[in-house]
Amino acid sequence: MKKSILILLTLLIMHGSIAQRIAVMGALDEEIAILKEEMGKYKTQERGGIDFYLGKLKGKKIVLLKAGVGKVNSSYSTAVLMENYHPEALIFTGVAGGLAPDALPGDLVIGEKLVQYDYGQVDSLGFHVSPFRHPFDAQGEELFISGDSALISTSLEVAKAQTFLPISGREPRVFSGVIATGDLFVSSDEKAKWLYEEFGALATEMEGAAIGHICRTLGVPFVIIRSCSDNANNHARVNFNQFVGPASVNSAKIVLGILESMQ
Ligand code: ADE
Repeated sequence: MKKSILILLTLLIMHGSIAQRIAVMGALDEEIAILKEEMGKYKTQERGGIDFYLGKLKGKKIVLLKAGVGKVNSSYSTAVLMENYHPEALIFTGVAGGLAPDALPGDLVIGEKLVQYDYGQVDSLGFHVSPFRHPFDAQGEELFISGDSALISTSLEVAKAQTFLPISGREPRVFSGVIATGDLFVSSDEKAKWLYEEFGALATEMEGAAIGHICRTLGVPFVIIRSCSDNANNHARVNFNQFVGPASVNSAKIVLGILESMQ
């Protein structure tokens, strides 16, 4: 393609004259595997060391990527994604540790609000979480960041009509609420209890709030969908290894439903 045509196309995409893609993101290979398979034909583009898979899902143009684990990796991947593809919305799909006392591995949580539980200060009285300041500062400080209400409603509607893979012999339930993000794989009864009591969080994971803050800063609607592979308790690692596969599939099913509903 001639350089001038390429520049024109880039400008048209940036100014919204050409349909933008929906970004679909997971942190792990397992979390995006079923979506890659479902895409069938796709083109791989490497940008900033990240592989972006361009194709269609349920007739909708998407850009799929593996963000990597944790807030740094996922922030980097999100920044590269935004700079190169200017997506019209972002859907994150993956697993989490369930926190609500009655939540079990398999249950799904749609993130209404996200919080970085490990961002704060420490003093002689211990750790205190702080609100997060946006890079351009125009939007001030926020402790909780909200997902896009329309995408959250659609996720819940789609989930109601969905048949999920049973996990641990039971049909997963679907919740919406707070998701707590931090750079820790939580495998501790005590920490799980603290996250639930301190933030009312239903699930904990390692990327959602970081990605959400970038989306919020750039005005890109987003939703974080999580399926509990474990309960963030003392048995979390064993449960994670056991359920990461089917839990990832269940979360991806909601993504497919959302994209189908966008026709
Ligand atoms: N992702 C899945 N399980 C998790 C856990 N227990 N802690 C953090 N991230 C997770």
